[in-house]
Amino acid sequence: MTNQGESFKKVISHAKEYGFVFQSSEIYDGLSAIYDYAQNGVELKKNIREYWWKAMVQMNENIVGLDAAIFMHPTTWKASGHVDAFNDPLIDNKDSKKRYRADVLVEDYCAKIEGKIEKEVKKAEKRFGDSFDKSEFISTNGRVVGYQTKINSILSRLAKSLENEDLADVKALIEELEIADPLTGSKNWTDVKQFNLMFGTKLGASAESAMDLYLRPETAQGIFVNFLNVQKSGRMKIPFGIAQTGKAFRNEIVARQFIFRMREFEQMEMQYFIKPGTQKQWYEHWKEARMKWHLSLGMGADNYRFHDHEKLAHYADAASDIEFKFPFGFKELEGIHSRTDFDLSQHEKHSGKKLQYFDHEENKNYTPYVLETSIGLDRMFLAVFSNALTEETLENNTTRTVLKLPAVLAPIKAAILPLVKKDGLPEVAKTILSDLKWDFNVVYDEKDAVGRRYRRQDALGTPFCITVDHDTLEDHCVTIRHRDSMQQQRVKIEDLKTIIENEVAMKHWLKKIN
Ligand code: GAP
Repeated sequence: MTNQGESFKKVISHAKEYGFVFQSSEIYDGLSAIYDYAQNGVELKKNIREYWWKAMVQMNENIVGLDAAIFMHPTTWKASGHVDAFNDPLIDNKDSKKRYRADVLVEDYCAKIEGKIEKEVKKAEKRFGDSFDKSEFISTNGRVVGYQTKINSILSRLAKSLENEDLADVKALIEELEIADPLTGSKNWTDVKQFNLMFGTKLGASAESAMDLYLRPETAQGIFVNFLNVQKSGRMKIPFGIAQTGKAFRNEIVARQFIFRMREFEQMEMQYFIKPGTQKQWYEHWKEARMKWHLSLGMGADNYRFHDHEKLAHYADAASDIEFKFPFGFKELEGIHSRTDFDLSQHEKHSGKKLQYFDHEENKNYTPYVLETSIGLDRMFLAVFSNALTEETLENNTTRTVLKLPAVLAPIKAAILPLVKKDGLPEVAKTILSDLKWDFNVVYDEKDAVGRRYRRQDALGTPFCITVDHDTLEDHCVTIRHRDSMQQQRVKIEDLKTIIENEVAMKHWLKKIN
């Protein structure tokens, strides 16, 4: 197994062992690509959602929230284009009978070439030491330039074939590149076919009267159909945004990579309604604003990059992904899409209702354009969690597993630990717990030696451990241990709240964005 594969396996097993993510219905052998969030996972997920919500809704006077239903009138999906165009190009291997997404086979092939580029960069880094200039090396080294040119030409041909619905050329590309079934090595492929990703269900008691519905494949359409309701009831003036978080469902074929690609997942989307003609300016604005939000979490600027789309979705005139360096390489984390007036116009057409905005300054009606930011909450969870999981070799040659989560997102903010289970120490520790729990999610732990308890909290990502010892009874001070540095400080009990707040309060983190 590769290093990447090893480290990803560790992420998955840590998530299970420490109560973050479980396979859904595991006692029945699970459901593929469907997961449950456990006691710590649900806290981390809630904190990510809240960090997004506050950055969008609370910090922007002209963005409001919405919680639309998952079930929507089926015409919604005809209007949005999902019934006709929400497809993946699939290819079957005739020998293994396994089904794959044809575009993913080609992208994985390119990712392997990208791996070669990374190897060359690492070698050169070693060779040149401090004088190494990465960007110059990438743009001038013959071998690297050759690899990059090959990737660009493959991806642009793939984009063109998909755009033109030329599925025969997608198959031809797979054959020319001699891409084999990753499981068996067979190159015996069928033709490429389109497959719709929406899950169907029925509404109604009897088979005759039942109405065919879909589980929403994105939350965005709930925002579009409510555009005028929100605008009128909130007396919103363009530009304004509507933000929503909620479940979405897709019958993904390549459902692997843990919570990266799920069949039931959660999105955090914001539609920004703007004047036609201003979309380029707002596209740049939201690209920058969303990257700032990511960087504010301190997970390393090198772990992010933009990927501007060549192949645009049926609704977009510009689109870019924020990609993150997951354990299996750079992949899409968030999309920023300039959606034109496609959605509102389509809903006008299919519903027969006007969805226009009267602009008092211009003294005219128009259909607003829309700028969308769309991020998968589960994917963000995976980014945060995998980036945080660290194994450190300590001075005494032991290994410490520590989840270096941004403190603002950590599920538990502090653990209160009596040094021993007697002499009145548990009582003091529980009083501290009772005081702190009004402000933070805190836990009490008295089991095992204190060193082991520290390690358990390190593995859960808890930023602070607070130890009550015999001196506490005299001096009303405790030892506070910082997760990442492992440094310990003697502080007054009455100062604990401020010390913790300074590191975990959302406002301190949000200030980095605004
Ligand atoms: N409304 C636009 C939209 O849905 P998308 O690129 O299809 O655009 C947006 O999805 C984001 O949702 C992605 O960037 C990703 O983070 C997340 N996402 C999409 N499909 C997913 C899946 N099957 N599992 C987990 N997250 C997914």
